[in-house]
Amino acid sequence: TAPDGTLQGQLIAAPHTRQLLAGKDTLFWAYNGQLPGPLIDVAAGSTLDLHFENRLPQPSTIHWHGLPVPADQDGLPQDAVAPGGQRRYRFTLPADFSGTCWYHPHPHHHTAEQVFRGLAGAFIIRQPNDPLAHLPEHHLLISDLRLDADARIPANTAADWLDGREGQFVLVNGQLRPQLHVAPGSLLRLRIWNATSARQLRLALPGASWYQVGTDGGLIERPQSLQQLHLAPAERAEVVVRLPATPSSPYTLQALPYARGKMVGREQTQSLPLMQLVPHGQAVVTPALPELLRQISPLPAPVREQRVLMAEKAADGPVPVQFLINGRSHDPERIDLYSVQGETEQWEIINGSDMDHPFHIHGAQFQLVSRIRDGEETPEPWLAWRDTVNLTHAERVKLRIRQDLPGLRMFHCHILEHETLGMMGNLMVK
Ligand code: C2O
Ligand code: CU
Ligand code: CU
Repeated sequence: TAPDGTLQGQLIAAPHTRQLLAGKDTLFWAYNGQLPGPLIDVAAGSTLDLHFENRLPQPSTIHWHGLPVPADQDGLPQDAVAPGGQRRYRFTLPADFSGTCWYHPHPHHHTAEQVFRGLAGAFIIRQPNDPLAHLPEHHLLISDLRLDADARIPANTAADWLDGREGQFVLVNGQLRPQLHVAPGSLLRLRIWNATSARQLRLALPGASWYQVGTDGGLIERPQSLQQLHLAPAERAEVVVRLPATPSSPYTLQALPYARGKMVGREQTQSLPLMQLVPHGQAVVTPALPELLRQISPLPAPVREQRVLMAEKAADGPVPVQFLINGRSHDPERIDLYSVQGETEQWEIINGSDMDHPFHIHGAQFQLVSRIRDGEETPEPWLAWRDTVNLTHAERVKLRIRQDLPGLRMFHCHILEHETLGMMGNLMVK
């Protein structure tokens, strides 16, 4: 910390070796040699000054996913740091912004590869007077990793470019099926990140009761009892787990089967165990969960509407499909949409394809208004701040958003292969 209260740190992206399969070294790309990268955990309103060094053989940037930082500090592809280069990222967060966010590279053509080689980290922004601050808190950053027989991370196949890449190992905090020891009877606060390139996580925790208490952009108004928690690529959630006072056995967090409409690959047909909560030690007295977590004001009536169509088109080439937004492939020089600072807009996002596409936008969090499926519009049951929303086959969503900062922002599919192939647009906020 500097004398003026600025939080200082450094993030160095570099190759790094670790053994994941016994006896074999795997070469990762990591921030500060850590997988995932170091946790950034700050109070709302903080000022950060982060030194970044790129020791990769490719250009890179750091994008602060979900954070309302000035456009020139947001690690856009247009602001890449060359191999061997460095820069500072400096920003002050709004006093009223909190959330469970993350950071990852965002250079042209290399985002997918840099993330699947290991570059991603968690970024938590805490609100003052957090009503759940007294609960023990654990972080589950979920990523997936593919290794070949020699424990190397292979390049994408043509199928990966179409479907988005999934690895055979689904890791929690860089570990395969870790265990967490927890006191019987306790209430636990978990923050969960889907940091995979393309995997849809439909999470279940049989035997324990759990509640969603937060989304990408912080706490929701009231705890929502959960059966399953669906996290699309790049989405995050906060949940509270209540463990019975006399637990019988460990609880397994699992990813249930989910068909996301792959073009060529096989769909997941079996549940996948991700980690275990193992009851351990003396039972503790469970505190009650507050009924009201915080108040969220709905964004006002929109002054403008925008429309975004995500769809594919057959093409000639090694990847026989083009991934498009509003019929066009990403062009870094072209502005696709314009917004005005401080004005609320309603965006309608349309999935015109046969597979799921998670939509993400930079610069601000949005509020979902409704989802439209088979001609039927369902209003969102509760208010929440988000920066990513999944759209299933032929689904539409309406959302409200207000960009408070000027400059260039991107919106894109967060299947990183689709983003890399051009399913991304530029928004200029004036
Ligand atoms: Cu996490 Cu533009 O993305
Ligand atoms: Cu982002
Ligand atoms: Cu996509």
